[in-house]
Amino acid sequence: MKAIILYDTRSVGGSTDKFVDNLGKSLAETEAYVEKGKCKATADYSFLQDFDVIIMGAPVYYLLVSSDLLGSFFQSNIKKYLRRKKVALFLACGSPEPMATMMYLPQLKIHLVRNKILAEKVFAPQELSDMEAIDSYVDNIVEEYRKAIKTRDRSLVWTDGALEMLDRIPSFFKDRVRITTEEYAEEAGYNEITVSVVNEAKAEFE
Ligand SMILES: Cc1cc2nc3c(=O)[nH]c(=O)nc-3n(C[C@H](O)[C@H](O)[C@H](O)COP(=O)(O)O)c2cc1C
Repeated sequence: MKAIILYDTRSVGGSTDKFVDNLGKSLAETEAYVEKGKCKATADYSFLQDFDVIIMGAPVYYLLVSSDLLGSFFQSNIKKYLRRKKVALFLACGSPEPMATMMYLPQLKIHLVRNKILAEKVFAPQELSDMEAIDSYVDNIVEEYRKAIKTRDRSLVWTDGALEMLDRIPSFFKDRVRITTEEYAEEAGYNEITVSVVNEAKAEFE
């Protein structure tokens, strides 16, 4: 699993920065490849293409998810590059969890209605440095990711022609094309991946 932690915070070296470092360490222990990146509302998010899982989150300030993460949905191309990505969400905030789930998480989820959300968690200030809470969030992400991959592998059938096309792709790129094509086919409601489905998926990403 290739994951990126995409986060925002207004503090330098604050609770979110430390949390993200610990989250990265915990993920790396599961043998995932992990990178982290700080959001900019106007950044170019095409690099997200390289990742299987996008873990995104930020603190809440004055009732709003931190502005560079929230702003990126309005001011950047992030939505394009999040299409069909598996996502996990986290928030850091001082409000009780039910309130945060009702008021803050939807600020992100409203932009992710077509994404598979592997896990979501609101971290209270004391949980941000609690390795048990972080490990449990990570376990949840990894378990749901594995389930999602398995379910897809079981239900989709590749025709011989489509498999031949896949075999012509260099090996370092093949897995990514296979996953992307299966995700496309799944979302489009195909049970079988034919040559034309592969071409449709390819056109979608060009
Ligand atoms: C200026 C400020 C405003 C905040 N506003 C809220 C808020 O509206 N709702 C909330 O639940 N928590 C709020 N918090 C709590 C933060 O979300 C929480 O402390 C978070 O861990 C801060 O992350 P940081 O250390 O990376 O800045 C606020 C904190 C600060 C400093």
